[in-house]
Amino acid sequence: MKESDKSYHLNYHILMKNKIFMTRRIPSIAQKLLEDNKIEVEIWEGRLPPSAEELKEASKGVQGLLTMLSDDINSELLESATELKVISQYAVGFNNIDTNTANLKNIKVSNTPDVLTDATAELAMALMLGVSRNILNSNTSIREGDWKTWEPKGHLGVSLKGKTLGIFGMGRIGECFARKCHHAFDMKIIYVSRTEKTLSFPATKVNLDELLSMSNVVSLHSPLTNETKNLFNSENISKMIPNSIFINTSRGELHNEEDLLTALEENHLFGIGLDVTNPEPMEATSPLLRHPKVIVTPHIGSATFEARDAMAELCAKNIILALDDKELITPVN
Ligand code: DGY
Repeated sequence: MKESDKSYHLNYHILMKNKIFMTRRIPSIAQKLLEDNKIEVEIWEGRLPPSAEELKEASKGVQGLLTMLSDDINSELLESATELKVISQYAVGFNNIDTNTANLKNIKVSNTPDVLTDATAELAMALMLGVSRNILNSNTSIREGDWKTWEPKGHLGVSLKGKTLGIFGMGRIGECFARKCHHAFDMKIIYVSRTEKTLSFPATKVNLDELLSMSNVVSLHSPLTNETKNLFNSENISKMIPNSIFINTSRGELHNEEDLLTALEENHLFGIGLDVTNPEPMEATSPLLRHPKVIVTPHIGSATFEARDAMAELCAKNIILALDDKELITPVN
């Protein structure tokens, strides 16, 4: 081969190299795997996500996107990203991605189920325990200098042993949380699900009204869909048992925050634990945050070192497979 031909081939190869845009820095295993597979990686280094315009610009000319749940992957973006072959979502939920348009354009989409199941179920457990035993508010009272003595009736919580846990959405995370609660606290499990489940612990499938009127703790584990949006509003919250606990670690748009606050102010609910809010991020001035019976965390369900490393690895592997025209490990379309 002549010297000039050689350089032609080399340049040609560089031009054909796959490139992906990662909308936030994630554990380095992802970048390493991708680069080991000769995929060029561009990373958005901001603490805040790219704007819609920045994301649209960055998506042009790349073959892959590695996205967060805060990125709006809409049809306009997908139409303009003419070289896009794969969107690898760094989350199990993917309601931020227009999968219909992705399907039409033959763009593969993947998510990260399984690897974050325990982490998210553990957080639901933490919120349930935190709310039921007033952990946040009793700690705050010490910080505010209000621990004067041991109080026979101070900071009374509710016991979980033998109580009924209502799971709304018996997918992987709902099931994992229910199993932990059954074994740890001997809780009775009832659930709402589109399908009857074969489970390793006793649990009864019920309808939504039954779930609300029988559960001491209602915990949401459902994706955001047209059917689940704003489902936990005043009408349904009013059907919950007096003194019960509401937990949401799925998507904030499932609940109505004003209605939740009203239920607390009317002493209908014992307390609320939210890892997801509506809207997200929650305003620091939200009255729910000031309420002593509420614990809110900033959407950290999957935020353990173990889960995030595994999510990063899975995201990278899905991209590598997609760009090699192979079947994805965790496709959603
Ligand atoms: C997800 O991955 O969709 C969860 O919301 C993480 O907490």
